[in-house]
Amino acid sequence: MHRRIIAPGALAAASLLLAIPASAASYSPGAPGIGDPYYPYYGNGGYDVSHYDLRLRYQPTTDELQGTATIQARTTQDLSRFDLDFLLDVSEVRVNGERASFARAEQHELVVTPKRPLPEGTPLTVVVRYRGVPSTKSAYGFTTWHRTPDGAVAADEPESAWWWFPSNDHPSDKATYDVSVAVPDGTQAVSNGTLRSTDAKRGWTRYSWRQDRPQATYLATLAIGKFDITTSRSERGVPVINAYSKDLGAGAGAARASVERTGEIVDWLSDYFGPYPFATAGGYVPNTTTGYALETQTRVYYSPKQFAKGSNPSLVVHELAHQWYGDDVSLKGWKDIWLNEGFATYAQWLWSEHEGEGTAQQLADHVYSSHAADDPFWTVKPGDPGPDDQFDDAVYDRGAAALQALRDEIGDGAFFRILKGWPKAHAYGNASVADFEKYAEKISGKPLAGLFDTWLYEPTKPSAGAARSFTATDAAAPLPKSWNQIEAAHGGHGTLSR
Ligand code: TRP
Ligand code: ZN
Repeated sequence: MHRRIIAPGALAAASLLLAIPASAASYSPGAPGIGDPYYPYYGNGGYDVSHYDLRLRYQPTTDELQGTATIQARTTQDLSRFDLDFLLDVSEVRVNGERASFARAEQHELVVTPKRPLPEGTPLTVVVRYRGVPSTKSAYGFTTWHRTPDGAVAADEPESAWWWFPSNDHPSDKATYDVSVAVPDGTQAVSNGTLRSTDAKRGWTRYSWRQDRPQATYLATLAIGKFDITTSRSERGVPVINAYSKDLGAGAGAARASVERTGEIVDWLSDYFGPYPFATAGGYVPNTTTGYALETQTRVYYSPKQFAKGSNPSLVVHELAHQWYGDDVSLKGWKDIWLNEGFATYAQWLWSEHEGEGTAQQLADHVYSSHAADDPFWTVKPGDPGPDDQFDDAVYDRGAAALQALRDEIGDGAFFRILKGWPKAHAYGNASVADFEKYAEKISGKPLAGLFDTWLYEPTKPSAGAARSFTATDAAAPLPKSWNQIEAAHGGHGTLSR
């Protein structure tokens, strides 16, 4: 049945005209969460976003952000109202040109009630006007907006959008982006994708960025500050845009020496994973004090701390591997995190092998032999670690060892066909660990349920038999050099703190 929009007052009249009266009772509120068991209130139900247009203005001295978000979406149910995930102060919401009422609910929910109910399949243009001081807003007791001496950075996982734009904040609802930010002259604004224009007017410069490929909300990033911006091209023609805070101090050289290898590393990774999936690549190093990097799409966020001990190309490999594993192919749910971290870590192992610093097999051996059977490391299930252990070392290291076990089982031919075929099979989409298991069985022609169960789902150390080629006895073997680098880059990712 095709339902039409009916204002409540018109119901009686309309029912005289329609053979089957549309019942207002079929319209219900969109769920306050998209249905991710790890994070029940992340994302929302009832609609699907296709594009975010963010027109913003930011004043670093006061941390004041103001703007207008124009969201293109479509309803996925007969909808009486819907939520956005957002923390700043909203002054107006319009839905398809009409003023909507809005209210705040628990934590980060903004509840929008349009003038009239919206039938399933209705295209929506939602305009949200807002302002606020992001660093003063918190939900669940934390804030992910980081002020710097000259600006601010939005880059966090699994959430960072709430502090700068209203969204359906879950990786399963990907969209394209226009991010346009006015900042005081002399300051730059960096975001994802391609810089379309810079426009100076009356003391402010507006930077307009566009991400023309689907992007998960947590992969949208914004960095404001005084940056040196470099542009280049990889040998295979991928445009590279990097940005370095002018204020990196002693670590500046090592940061540049590492991040300037982006083009070379993107080309190298494309031999394993297929063509680079986006229009540009790059990263930025702001003057933050946090200790983690994040695979923000096309523009990786690097913390200067990670270059404090010298250049760290292995970290660049990890974050660029995510451009395929995480960004191009995104998680269906947060429990699928192994598809991101296990594979990005395995890419570091391939790099280590390439650099002659220790083979993937040696690194897997080391993971296996350096954690005794009673080490809590083995209690974390990489295939479903739970929200508290989502970024535990086990998801990365046992997760990468799981891939080495797969490689041992099916051989290099099938293994590398899978690594390259997977991004193609789910390009710009979403997939789950279960989808990967099926795909690996299809490509290898082997039943693999036992192997995946042992490596991804058993809360115990796999037996020496399961780790056939893993040399559990060589614990005393010297650590490959790259392993120390990886530890330096990711040391402590099991204790991520905000
Ligand atoms: N995905 C990031 C990486 O592996 C790690 C990460 C998890 C992170 N949560 C974060 C980084 C929060 C910054 C903030 O590189
Ligand atoms: Zn990672």
